[in-house]
Amino acid sequence: MNIRQATIDDLLGMQNCNLHNLPENYTMRYYFYHALTWPQLSYVAEDEKGRIVGYILGKMEEDPADGIPHGHVTSISVLRSYRRLGLANKLMKQSQTEMRNVFGAKYVSLHVRQTNRAAIGLYRDSLGFNVHEVEKGYYADGEDALAMRLYLD
Ligand code: ACO
Repeated sequence: MNIRQATIDDLLGMQNCNLHNLPENYTMRYYFYHALTWPQLSYVAEDEKGRIVGYILGKMEEDPADGIPHGHVTSISVLRSYRRLGLANKLMKQSQTEMRNVFGAKYVSLHVRQTNRAAIGLYRDSLGFNVHEVEKGYYADGEDALAMRLYLD
């Protein structure tokens, strides 16, 4: 399994992976926007045949309300049969490192469904994120989001 920076050629594979894994989906234009604006912040995991089995779509917050430069994880997922191999952990760490080193991010933010046990386990237990606040009815179906943050030093 190989982890590398995403290129424009990977975007369809990333979108495909996203469609398999999550109800939060994005236009191809939005994938392009990430890859062209913050190319250092999106990564893919590929199998031995070069098929994309996981991705992270990362960005910088463009107009942070608190004035503090910070990164944001738009989306991360790993195909079901490739889970619990440490791929998401590596994808997150790669993107976080570049948020700090390239763009001077002070922290990373993200939203996660409050019932998403696997993702909350990844963020909180494995990576050390904390819950910053609960955003009521954040998702299209009305579920609350945990807004989580990890400070980078
Ligand atoms: N239950 C509890 N904890 C878990 C689980 C689980 N099912 N899966 C991962 N974790 C935690 C554990 O602490 C794990 O460490 P350990 O294996 O040493 O115990 C740690 O996360 C790292 O696990 P990885 O193997 O790196 O995670 P994986 O590659 O399996 O991907 C992910 C985790 C991305 C959440 C995957 O389950 C997935 O794709 N789920 C569907 C899509 C999704 O929910 N994405 C996140 C939405 S929020 C957002 O995108 C900002």
